[in-house]
Amino acid sequence: MTQDSALLPAPEIAPNEGLRDGSNSRKVFIKTYGCQMNVYDSTRMSDALARDGYEPTEDMEEADLVLLNTCHIREKAAEKVYSALGRLREMKKKKAASGREMMIGVTGCVAQAEGEEILRRAPAVDVVIGPQTYHRLPEALRRAKDGHRVVDTEYALEDKFEHLPLAEAKKIRARGVTSFLTVQEGCDKFCTFCVVPYTRGSEVSRPVSQILEEAQKLVDGGVREITLLGQNVNAWHGAGPNGEEWSLGDLLYRLAEIPGLARLRYTTSHPRDMDDRLIEAHRDLRALMPYLHLPVQSGSDRILKAMNRRHTAAEYMTLMERIRAARPDIALSGDFIVGFPGETDEDFEATLRLVGEVRYAQAFSFKYSTRPGTPGAEMKDQVPEEIKAERLERLQALLLRQTQEFNESCVGKTIDLLLEKPGRLPGQIIGRSPWLQSVNVDAKASQIGDIINVRITGTGTNSLFAEFAEAEV
Ligand code: SAH
Ligand code: SF4
Ligand code: F3S
Repeated sequence: MTQDSALLPAPEIAPNEGLRDGSNSRKVFIKTYGCQMNVYDSTRMSDALARDGYEPTEDMEEADLVLLNTCHIREKAAEKVYSALGRLREMKKKKAASGREMMIGVTGCVAQAEGEEILRRAPAVDVVIGPQTYHRLPEALRRAKDGHRVVDTEYALEDKFEHLPLAEAKKIRARGVTSFLTVQEGCDKFCTFCVVPYTRGSEVSRPVSQILEEAQKLVDGGVREITLLGQNVNAWHGAGPNGEEWSLGDLLYRLAEIPGLARLRYTTSHPRDMDDRLIEAHRDLRALMPYLHLPVQSGSDRILKAMNRRHTAAEYMTLMERIRAARPDIALSGDFIVGFPGETDEDFEATLRLVGEVRYAQAFSFKYSTRPGTPGAEMKDQVPEEIKAERLERLQALLLRQTQEFNESCVGKTIDLLLEKPGRLPGQIIGRSPWLQSVNVDAKASQIGDIINVRITGTGTNSLFAEFAEAEV
């Protein structure tokens, strides 16, 4: 996989063993695009493929199988996949000329949205698998080996997680001390700009028992911080041990009891699904980190209505106040779209005003991108590209200032830092602050996984600097 390369397990065989000599060893290269759910899925696919003798590689050249785990959220994201497939076609040809086979698979949201079309546009592709059918990937690869081109995106109400293997402790350990855990998939909200309900399907919540089992395995493998994932994670409502329904708040209270699991997070949430229990969890649970990603998309009620967000700007602000009252040190984050069809200067100013009032610690903002099949694509009054670009620039400048202000406000504070991975310089370790900032500190590699007390000493472009708090006294 290409994400977090430093955390990948080292190959368990010597590099010159297991060549294509009839032995079972093969290499898979997975390129992950898009959101954290894809990052998580890539890991699960890698674990499923390990059963068939595939080991992960960072080097596409030596791969027997290349998987592109794709994203369809904006036009650019989907285009990237086709240009990568063009390059892969050349590589596949070159390899074939020297007698080596390379299979190519497309997974993720482009696979689900475009299915057969990918085979037509990209002749080098062998398999296309949608996000709900990853448990059938090994089978699809076997069929592809027999010369078939396979598209498998059809699914009923089956649970892929019931069929995907969990990695053993040794492998988890090699991946690091923080981990994602998908608890919810799909979305029923149908915001008019968004492809997710079409690519990931309708909302499904994993049951409590499955989640607890996986969380325990992660902790046994040395994980200290788990981020629960879902396209709409706070809509999670899984079946409890006696069949009763739990809310995300209930789940967090239960996870917080797991010994050794020091930190919990969840993402991404919808404002409509922030219930009282979840806000109480922010008030009560020390393990629940003071960080919340709660996208609002726009500050204009007219645009929020056209987006089918089903909340107003004022409702969002009230919610933010309640959350801040429950957890005063919470860092708030959000997503914004500029240039949604019909957005006027006035609507955009309302977004800037809302940002000014909330004071975000972190935020993501995008130009509206028309997605085929969504209601937004059919709306009149599409906003010209240059206006979108200009608005995005203004919004991003404001959001960047807020992030800098937030980071600067941390200087001088003593905080808990989870030591996560080696830094760029020798002797340096990168840690994670409670507010999801990357913090550089001088520490030993053997301390990775520890939570230490540090004093923030300064800010950089994308990270902060700290020293051991004890060094001060
Ligand atoms: N489930 C999350 C977001 C999922 S997509 C939520 O409800 O907020 C992540 C972000 O991508 C969205 O929050 C939105 O800001 C952005 N996005 C989604 N569709 C988009 C589109 N068509 N054009 C531009 N940005 C988009
Ligand atoms: Fe997309 Fe999020 Fe809206 Fe669902 S709630 S449709 S994932 S933006
Ligand atoms: Fe992209 Fe699919 Fe995630 S469209 S953002 S990979 S849910």
